Amino acid sequence: MTARLRIAIQKSGRLSTESQQLLKSCGVKFSVNEQRLIAHADNMPVDILRVRDDDIPGLVMDGVVDLGIVGENVLEEEQLERDCLGNASDVVKLRQLDFGACRLSLAVPTEFVYGDASSLEGLRIATSYPNLLRRFMQNKGISYQDCQLKGSVEVAPRAGLADGICDLVSTGATLEANGLYETEVIFRSMACIIQSTTPQSDTKQALINKILSRVNGVIRARE
Ligand code: PRP
Ligand code: ZN
Ligand code: MG
Repeated sequence: MTARLRIAIQKSGRLSTESQQLLKSCGVKFSVNEQRLIAHADNMPVDILRVRDDDIPGLVMDGVVDLGIVGENVLEEEQLERDCLGNASDVVKLRQLDFGACRLSLAVPTEFVYGDASSLEGLRIATSYPNLLRRFMQNKGISYQDCQLKGSVEVAPRAGLADGICDLVSTGATLEANGLYETEVIFRSMACIIQSTTPQSDTKQALINKILSRVNGVIRARE
């Protein structure tokens, strides 16, 4: 493990700009080169890794990186996945952040007559969040068929791949553009900052504490 603190953030997507902004507001000086995975801070021993958001919880849990900024939705899904496989998910949420608000919701085509979740009994649901969906449906005692997609979930009903979807909603524009409407929120999420439970050297832990206290300050000032 390097002496430099490694922080994973989303490369491109809803959280990228605000994640970079937050670190910069905390005094971490770096510039991002679109072609590069890693950005070295000039003024402190910190490296920023720009990866797919879905990979961030696993990288932190495996101790590959020290900190991550990720949606609680992605974190919860990865924890459920590891629990289900009997693998340890060694991670602590240091704090919730003040951006990245979204919800994981069930949605169906405009013409679908929806009463409650049992309207989906036996039907096929497309999602990138199979574990969060399963937990919700199991709690309700509703059976359904899986259609696991890493992307383009919102086009699945029109393409004839599924009857409904379970996907992230932020403004709702994506659902609307695809002739779908939201019927049920199954998980509410914000961005959060996570740390691996792998013990750190004293110097690294001191740096983590310093960054975290600055994060607290930045968020307090924005409230
Ligand atoms: C989500 C979701 C939709 C979009 C919804 O993807 O899959 O595509 O956001 O947002 P809207 O309600 O404002 O239209 P997102 O890109 O956030 O997740 P990802 O980066 O993991 O693909
Ligand atoms: Zn993603
Ligand atoms: Mg997307």
